[in-house]
Amino acid sequence: MGPVAPRRRESVMVLSPREEILIRAPAKVNLGLSVLRRRRDGYHEIATLFQAVSLYDSLALRRLRKKAVRLVCPDFHGREKENLAYRAAEAFYAGTGMPGGMEIGLQKRIPAGGGLGGGSSDAAAVLLGACRLYGVRPAAMQIHEWAAALGSDVPFFTVGGAAVGTGRGEVIEPLAGEGPPCGVLIYAPGYESPTPEVYGALDPSRLTRSGRRLTMLASCWKKGDPEGLGRNVFNDLEGPVLARHPDLREAKLAMKASGALGALVSGSGSSLFALYRDPGKAAEAARRLRQDLPGKVWAARFIPRRHHWGVVKR
Ligand code: C5P
Repeated sequence: MGPVAPRRRESVMVLSPREEILIRAPAKVNLGLSVLRRRRDGYHEIATLFQAVSLYDSLALRRLRKKAVRLVCPDFHGREKENLAYRAAEAFYAGTGMPGGMEIGLQKRIPAGGGLGGGSSDAAAVLLGACRLYGVRPAAMQIHEWAAALGSDVPFFTVGGAAVGTGRGEVIEPLAGEGPPCGVLIYAPGYESPTPEVYGALDPSRLTRSGRRLTMLASCWKKGDPEGLGRNVFNDLEGPVLARHPDLREAKLAMKASGALGALVSGSGSSLFALYRDPGKAAEAARRLRQDLPGKVWAARFIPRRHHWGVVKR
């Protein structure tokens, strides 16, 4: 499949509308991330390999007669308008002109500011879920356009599975196949790592400037080679994150010593992930590391695209 680029088309009503749906929104890790150059618009040109993993937020979308968007999320303490799920609902109504409104019930498990794409995944789930609620199927290009306007990671979550992201991360080329049946361990230290600060701390003289490492990594993924994948994971943003947080260096060493094939900062941090030969090994390592590390530890697995965006109840 080629890169998905924005284009506009009308929404058509194709499915029967629903009153309520429940959705699971998965986290992601970046198996590889090259920062190629700084752009004039303040963003960085990157080449990244996204992989959806089985740590989920849960969303309940309910239609309202009133023209309003309401967010019910006990774990969110900011302003509604700053919440990506809320903004995704607004983008849906602005883009489609659909009547009424919706209530978004959001149960967070994916830590915010953790480089795991939780907010972006929630936003994608609201965009796709809203289409399902109203029984409309806008063109993929249209959804991509809404998603990219919400944030660089949102388009990936409208597709799921594994995908190469280029541009600022919003140009998505899905990888066909399922990849290796790896186990993943995710460690969240309990604090946030602000993305703009991490990009801002990059040393321009140490940028990758080449997509070669990512091509090699994608080839290990396609071959279903867990060892090759573990050996080749990389992240140009890891340096600035570890420099600020020496505790993450320690955590990374502990993860490596737990039988991991590779361990790495995800995105702009603060979370780390480690890969294991299979989910059983990840679960075993998680049991041990929960005793040793001060933050939260989850055992997870890669989610293939066919299992992405699980509507758990209609
Ligand atoms: O697109 P998003 O809103 O997630 O980006 C948040 C911030 O992260 C941007 O304002 C920018 O400072 C930084 N960023 C970047 N290059 C990217 C993605 C994000 O510099 N490719």
